[in-house]
This record gives sequence, structure tokens and C-alpha cells, in this order.
Amino acid sequence: MKYILILNGPNLNLLGQREPGIYGTETLETILEGLRIRFAEIDLRHEQHNGEGELIDTLHAAGFDPDCIGIVFNAGAYTHYSYAIADAIAAIPAPVVEVHMSNVQAREEFRHRSVIAPVCCGTVAGFGADSYRLGIEALLSRH
Ligand code: DQA
Repeated sequence: MKYILILNGPNLNLLGQREPGIYGTETLETILEGLRIRFAEIDLRHEQHNGEGELIDTLHAAGFDPDCIGIVFNAGAYTHYSYAIADAIAAIPAPVVEVHMSNVQAREEFRHRSVIAPVCCGTVAGFGADSYRLGIEALLSRH
């Protein structure tokens, strides 16, 4: 069965507790529950890893899987400096949508740069948990 992978990077396991003024009070589990209700007809898979290596292994596995429609990826702070993750995204045929809950362009300067943006098919940022929904819709509309 075809599926979409939602992939979350470092510190996103702390959603709900982590800087609620920026990331809101919803936990990752609640966000995923909402997405699974909204996209009931789609197999939505999820992985969260704090480590760069695990994220790269996951990108390799899903990215070459013919059943994977695409990956909605919040790389957290790796977004801003991980060339290893950028290379992994460039290496895989599956489309990857970069998502951020916060409006990274309105935050500290180090968050303005994304080294993964050039190898993703697009970016959604600034809509809180809704950024994930918009990322999924972007993948479905180009599928
Ligand atoms: C984030 C933005 C990143 O700058 C930050 O390091 C995160 C979360 C977001 O979803 O807004 O961990 O990706």
C-alpha cells in the first residue's frame, strides 16, 4: 500500500512541552492523530529521530521504496547546517517537502538559511501543526 512518511528530527519529540509560545501546546501524538483522521484514506507513517544518522537511514529506506509517495520532513535545526541530510535527500527519488511549524524567516538569523531547501520539492513554514497538513496536501497534489 502506498504511504506518506512524516519524518521529524531533533527535539520534535518534545512538542507540547518545548517552547509552547513558539511551537504550541499540542504533542506530536495529538498532531499525528489529527492528521490520520483528516487523511483517513492515506497510510500516514511516522518516524522521529534526534540523531542525524537515523534520519539519513530513514530517508534512504523510504526514499527508495516504490510505495512511498513522498516524505514530509521537519529536520529541526539540522535544516540549517546538515549537508549530510541534504545529500541524502538529493540521493533519493521520493519527493521531500520541507516543513517547519514556526516562521523560520521571522526568527534568529541562523534559522533563515536552509541547506535542504534546494533539494526539497518545496517548503511550508509558519503554520504551526497545520504546516504538516499543507505538506501532505502538496505531496498529494503533485502525485
Ligand atoms: C523548526 C524550526 C527550526 O529552526 C528548529 O530548530 C526546530 C523546529 C520548526 O518546526 O519550526 O527544531 O523546524
